[in-house]
Amino acid sequence: HALPRAVLRLAARRGDLQGRITVEASSGADLTDLFNEIRARGPLAATKVGHTTARHASVREILTSDALVTTRPRYGAGILGRLAAWSATDITHPVQPPSLLVVEPPQHTRYRKLVTRVFTARAVEQLRARTQSIADSLLDSLDPTNPVDLIETYCGLLPVTVISEILGVPHSERAKVLALGAAAAPSLDMGLSWRVFRSVESTLSSFDTWLTQHLDALRANPGDNLLSRLITAREDGEGLTERELKATAGLVLAAGFETTVNLLGNGIALLTQHSSQLEVLRSRPDLWANAVDEVLRYDPPVLMTGRMCFADTTIAGVPVRRGQFVTAVLAAANRDPSVFDNPAAFDVTRPNARDHVSFGAGRHYCLGAQLARMEGEIGLRSIFERFPDLRALPGARRRPTRILRGFERLPTQLY
Ligand code: HEM
Repeated sequence: HALPRAVLRLAARRGDLQGRITVEASSGADLTDLFNEIRARGPLAATKVGHTTARHASVREILTSDALVTTRPRYGAGILGRLAAWSATDITHPVQPPSLLVVEPPQHTRYRKLVTRVFTARAVEQLRARTQSIADSLLDSLDPTNPVDLIETYCGLLPVTVISEILGVPHSERAKVLALGAAAAPSLDMGLSWRVFRSVESTLSSFDTWLTQHLDALRANPGDNLLSRLITAREDGEGLTERELKATAGLVLAAGFETTVNLLGNGIALLTQHSSQLEVLRSRPDLWANAVDEVLRYDPPVLMTGRMCFADTTIAGVPVRRGQFVTAVLAAANRDPSVFDNPAAFDVTRPNARDHVSFGAGRHYCLGAQLARMEGEIGLRSIFERFPDLRALPGARRRPTRILRGFERLPTQLY
């Protein structure tokens, strides 16, 4: 992923799989045929930079391997991005250390334990009623008589409002923090243009300044929010460092912008395309939680992830050498016919929908999985219950991202 776009495009033209995945993903195309082609090339397919896979078992093996790590070269605008990294300051960045996403044991073990103490299932359940009232008030403010873009008016707002509660952002500062978060959020994707890269870096620096003040304010005056609890969390007498706290808050905010919005958008798009599935949910509302997992399986918000090999190893019986890059195509593993019957069917009653790998696996398994599932269930169910005749209008547009997969616009008629 760290390769410049021009190199990837050239590689794609020559048929290289890694090049094709990244180029075709950012075009928003349907990737089913490409996934089948990668799967047909065996448990681990060679690419110009390493290996890739579309098989469920291999994806799990990659994500749980001790020889493969998340640490990667600084992402960004290809060579220019890496040049900029030489002069980089130590501002916190969602995909740079000490972000949880890219540190490894032993640091990761202690750090993750501390964060998990606060992000418990109980803490998420306590946010359920609040999430419902946020969804209800967003739905109240929609104008049902005119077409609306649901990404802008609903899918994008629900997750970030919930995250603002988690981070204890005071109401008076929400608009400012949301603006900073929105501008910094592309940092989770790869291969940004130079212009976007520069703007993201400068926003991250403003966000860092705001966070320093915010953490001081919460220390002086803790509130009933997860970030206040994270500040005081201790494991064997040790807490998170200031930079770890900031990195976690930044990553949680970026995840709020870039992932759950895709879950809601992809879900609305899928359910409007499959009205028979909506009928099933009308007669069996207890299936909404399963429907969210089926959306996650069928059109996952994070298309793929990658690992760097730091010690020679084998994955699915294939040798992987130190320094090679391995991609795990989560979206393709979710269509593996050896795990999912009739994988191309979108079926909200699927008994093993939860076996998808859309939240990853192993030590970096998504910290926000329960939160995202809860928001997905409330967000999707509430809108379809309020507006049962909701219809998609022409003009839906996918986002031109490589790693993340979702809609930029979703024009909709509510009645
Ligand atoms: C990690 C997906 C929502 C916080 C991950 C990973 C995936 C993922 C695939 C693992 C990446 C890898 O192994 O390379 C998703 C999806 C979401 C979602 C599909 C929404 C539908 C959230 C939310 C939060 C969050 C709402 C905020 C609480 C994190 C964190 C990690 C992570 C902190 C890093 C965990 C670690 O490295 O130990 N997520 N995520 N995610 N996610 Fe999520």
